[in-house]
Amino acid sequence: MSDPSTRASRALPLTLRGVGRRFERDVLRGVDLEVEAGEIVAVLGPSGCGKSTLLRQLGGLDSPDTGTVLIDDSPAQPADQRCAVAFQEPRLLPWRTLRDNVALGLPTTRTKLSKQQRHDRLTELLDLVHLGTAGHHRPREVSGGMAQRASLARALARRPSVLLLDEPFGALDALTRLRMQDLLLDVHDEVPTTVVLVTHDVDEALYLADRIVLLADLAQSAGGAGSVTRIATVPGTRRRDRDAPELAQLRHELYEGLGVFRAHAGNTTTSTLTATSA
Ligand SMILES: Nc1ncnc2c1ncn2[C@@H]1O[C@H](COP(=O)(O)OP(=O)(O)OP(=O)(O)O)[C@@H](O)[C@H]1O
Ligand SMILES: [Mg+2]
Repeated sequence: MSDPSTRASRALPLTLRGVGRRFERDVLRGVDLEVEAGEIVAVLGPSGCGKSTLLRQLGGLDSPDTGTVLIDDSPAQPADQRCAVAFQEPRLLPWRTLRDNVALGLPTTRTKLSKQQRHDRLTELLDLVHLGTAGHHRPREVSGGMAQRASLARALARRPSVLLLDEPFGALDALTRLRMQDLLLDVHDEVPTTVVLVTHDVDEALYLADRIVLLADLAQSAGGAGSVTRIATVPGTRRRDRDAPELAQLRHELYEGLGVFRAHAGNTTTSTLTATSA
């Protein structure tokens, strides 16, 4: 479909070693994490614990005070071009069409892409996120889910090796959110990227991720404890059955880790949890 010269760079691995970041207080401390090329890793943690800060270190949008962040063995650069970021709010320019907003994500070295290549690439990107017939609309004319899909397409436009997603579906209604999760898996199948996804949604993390990193709020932890309290491998492989019994134990443990107890969980879940944790 696309010209081979403009094809994606491959998905790249990420390494964090002893990463720490301090603002008025320590926000991140001693973060060690290896993310394999092509892996999807979800980051969970209470509000304010430093999830976005961690993502910013990975994308070179902020620098750690201690430790190193490597993308494929070379340090993350300021606003690293190997990464793309998408946020909870789509951040589209309201006066531009969706297509023109997606175009903003294309490589700025325009000489690399002919007019035809740009056209083809944009069409391909809009198709990828099921906006093939909506590219002429402006953001105010489309739903939140459509705007978020355009934002995802813009992030993918320069074929990043690493996709950093900061609560990308957080503002969407429940049904659209589930659809977006499947879309993300479709995109990940189609475009080789390493994905780090910040989310507050335990079930979203269990559905999408290969592994889940649980971060603690250092303001609440004692002594010199590190930020990462747990790195869990999610049982099974992606496109899991959302209700798979083998996820119940980890779901329970993650809620516990977040300080949320599922006292009011449905009977089925509660009995499963009791059975698996006995
Ligand atoms: N540039 C900054 N200057 C000062 N403090 C900052 C800065 N960026 C983040 N912080 C502080 O670091 C802490 C962690 O912020 P961060 O946005 O990473 O949390 P978060 O886990 O993403 O929270 P949420 O789930 O609410 O999005 C907060 O106390 C925040 O105020
Ligand atoms: Mg955040």
